[in-house]
Amino acid sequence: MPFPAVFTAYRVFQRDHRVRGEAALGWNIMSTARKPLVAGNWKLNKLVGEAVATVEALKPLVADVSNVDIVVCPVYTALHAAAQAAAGSNVEVGAQNAYNKENGAFTGEISPQMIKDTGCTWVIIGHSERRQYFGEGDALLNEKLHFALGTGLKVMFCIGETLEEREGGKMDDVLTRQITEGLKGVSEAQFANVAIAYEPVWAIGTGVTASPEQAESAHLFVRDLVRKLFGDAVADGVRIQYGGSAKPGNAAELISQPNVDGFLVGGAALQADSFAGIITAVSAHG
Ligand code: 13P
Repeated sequence: MPFPAVFTAYRVFQRDHRVRGEAALGWNIMSTARKPLVAGNWKLNKLVGEAVATVEALKPLVADVSNVDIVVCPVYTALHAAAQAAAGSNVEVGAQNAYNKENGAFTGEISPQMIKDTGCTWVIIGHSERRQYFGEGDALLNEKLHFALGTGLKVMFCIGETLEEREGGKMDDVLTRQITEGLKGVSEAQFANVAIAYEPVWAIGTGVTASPEQAESAHLFVRDLVRKLFGDAVADGVRIQYGGSAKPGNAAELISQPNVDGFLVGGAALQADSFAGIITAVSAHG
């Protein structure tokens, strides 16, 4: 095969079969290999002492894991202590939300600069609970995303359809709108600091997990859309996490899907051992 044909064939292979590391093919053009990202979203749980204890318990359980990026996202009041507890380990700390202003008369809000100041490196933007209970829409979330990226924070940007939308045949439209509006204006360089979390709302906190086929088909849809909007390099590089009742028992099957690049975990991330179980399953998949 002439080189361009080889390259095209490789890109198709890469698209259809995620290549996780250079060792996978022994071929050093894997700039688009995706390192899995597993994050725990602790939501409105854990006092400062509990958050620190969970980080301390997690660290030894995952100390040997180098092929997965690991993040925990406590409540604001525990960010600084959790980041201090995680310092020097392979566990990063993120916030669950951030406002789109640095400071000023915005009672009750917190800026990405303040989050960064606590020692955090990540922030979640657009979680379905923010959309559902706090009325955050695509335009605001896009502003928040850009503002957070501007501070150097990495962003997990959440999308996902409700059961009603899925059953009403609107899933593709909803995901298309959330991606198109929510990620508007993000440059190829900025995408290095963006992960997309696909969290079907009907699977969040319900114990109902998307089947590996449902997850893969949604993730592939999202990646194809990202390819159309932002090009091959972004689509091949961006990590798409699955969220919605992920647990140690279903992580291996889900992560074996070519377009599932990690997890955003709620309930099962609250205990260090179950969260570590998910991380270990992902790590073992390589
Ligand atoms: P559960 O894992 O509890 O379903 O929550 C998922 C989630 O919302 C993570 O952000």
